Amino acid sequence: MISNIAVLVSGRGSNLQSIIDNVESGYIQNAKIKIVISDVADAYALERSKKHGINTAFIDPSRFASKREYEQEIISILQVHDINLVLLAGYMRIVGSDLIETYKNKILNIHPALLPSFRGLHAQKQALNYGVKVAGCTVHFVDEDVDTGPIILQKCVPVLEEDTEDTLSDRILDQEHKIFPEAVKMFVEGKLKLEGRIVRRLK
Ligand code: GAR
Repeated sequence: MISNIAVLVSGRGSNLQSIIDNVESGYIQNAKIKIVISDVADAYALERSKKHGINTAFIDPSRFASKREYEQEIISILQVHDINLVLLAGYMRIVGSDLIETYKNKILNIHPALLPSFRGLHAQKQALNYGVKVAGCTVHFVDEDVDTGPIILQKCVPVLEEDTEDTLSDRILDQEHKIFPEAVKMFVEGKLKLEGRIVRRLK
C-alpha cells in the first residue's frame, strides 16, 4: 500500500527537503508526498515543494474566526488527498484536538531537543541557557499536549563551550535530517507499534 503523506510547514523547509530527498532516492519506499501545507505565505518550504512538482497550499489562519475552523480547512484538504500520514516539519503552531483526533497516531513531529526537556519554542536556546552538555532532537507522535507525544527516535549531539544558538542549532539540524526520514520509513513500513506511550519497533 502507498502511504500518502502531507507535510505541514511554516518556514525554510530543510526537514521537508530531507523527506523529499529520501522519498526520491528510494530510502522511503511506497510513499508519496501529496501536499505541502503552509500557514506562512512566503515560506521557502513552498518553493522547495514546487521545484519537486509537489502540490502546495497556503492556508492563512487569519482568514478564519477560530483555530477550529482553520484546522477544519486543513482536514478537508488532507481528506481530498487521501492522506494517511501527516508530518510536522517546522510547523510552528500547536495542533488542535480535531486534527489530532482525525489523524490519531498518524501525525509525526520533529523537535530540536531531547524531549521531555525543552518543549515549545526556541528549544536550542533553552538548552544553551540551561547549560546542558548534551542536546539533540526527537521525532514523536503528536498528542494533545505540546511536544509530549510518544517518542519514536532521538539523537544527541554535544554542546560545545563556544556554541551559540546558531552553531548548536546547525549541529542538531544535521541529526534532524537523519532521524526524521528514518522514522517516516519505519512508519510507512508498518514497523511502529504503540504500547501506551512506549513506541516498539517491530522487526
Ligand atoms: C527545525 O529545527 C525543527 O526541529 C524546528 O524548527 C526547525 C524548522 O526548520 N521545529 C520546532 O521547533 C517545532 N517546535 P526547517 O523549516 O528547516 O525544517
